[in-house]
Amino acid sequence: MTDKFIWTKKDLLGIEYLSAAEIEHILDTAASFKEVSTRDIKKVPALRGKTAANLFYEPSTRTRVSFEVAEKRLSCDVINMDMKASSVLKGETLADTGRNLEALKIDVFIIRHTYAGAANVLSKFVKGSVINAGDGKHEHPTQALLDMYTLREKFGKIKGLNVAIIGDISHSRVARSNIWGLRKLGANVVLCAPEIILPKYAREFGVKVTSNIDEALKDAHAINVLRMQFERDDIKSFPTPSEYFKNYGITKERLKKCRPDIVVMHPGPMNRGLEISSDVADGKNSVILEQVTNGIAVRMAVLFLTITAKRGENEILN
Ligand code: CP
Repeated sequence: MTDKFIWTKKDLLGIEYLSAAEIEHILDTAASFKEVSTRDIKKVPALRGKTAANLFYEPSTRTRVSFEVAEKRLSCDVINMDMKASSVLKGETLADTGRNLEALKIDVFIIRHTYAGAANVLSKFVKGSVINAGDGKHEHPTQALLDMYTLREKFGKIKGLNVAIIGDISHSRVARSNIWGLRKLGANVVLCAPEIILPKYAREFGVKVTSNIDEALKDAHAINVLRMQFERDDIKSFPTPSEYFKNYGITKERLKKCRPDIVVMHPGPMNRGLEISSDVADGKNSVILEQVTNGIAVRMAVLFLTITAKRGENEILN
């Protein structure tokens, strides 16, 4: 962990709001927590006596389970709210849900929501920490942190890496968080997708933007393959899935033209045979399951830093 770094943020709402030093500190803290998951007894008492509420208003497999595992590894008590069985269905607002949970002495709220900005809104109404687990098309900060952690583990650094983000950029909170983080840490980012799913604002991020997949993959150290979000109404007119796979799918043939040590990432869930072929997803360049494993350490770090920020307690208790 970085020496003498005082963490001051009680919330993690997005990578946009973090400095490069803060991102590095989260990654360093995660590195110190990673070993806990290799122990026979996978637990430290760092958050004993604290309570986390996991509020997932949208489906999730990886993020929800990863947060719960991270909370339990830190000895934090866990409340998994079933939002389909909550008073949200009776019209309760997010603010009132937050206030009532706070009255039950919740220390940290992990929220995934369909609406961009939901985590920011909740943070205005509760004194406890708020961690954004994905809000609409806005941000998915812990996903970007675990992606950066995985890249740093593979290459030893982020600065100077060429990272190609390929796929449904316009609907992707993962892309936005990765762009913020990778740019802050000095990586070169190229976004690649058919024009229809390349948002107009993409160039404002200071990244290279192209619809030519060969150009995007040239010299890339890593590819982050995004899920095609075909369920979104506004891409119903998109070229067919087979056309997408032919023109943009990450296949063994495409990888042959890349650096031999290229790292293939995907945040999941994957559409095999659409944005990525199975032989690549399961192949030697893939770090997709390592990303999932690293997510535990990264979320332990985020939980620990945000919850202890207010008290200035930055020592890990072993
Ligand atoms: N990467 C990710 O957010 O996956 P889930 O939707 O399963 O949480």
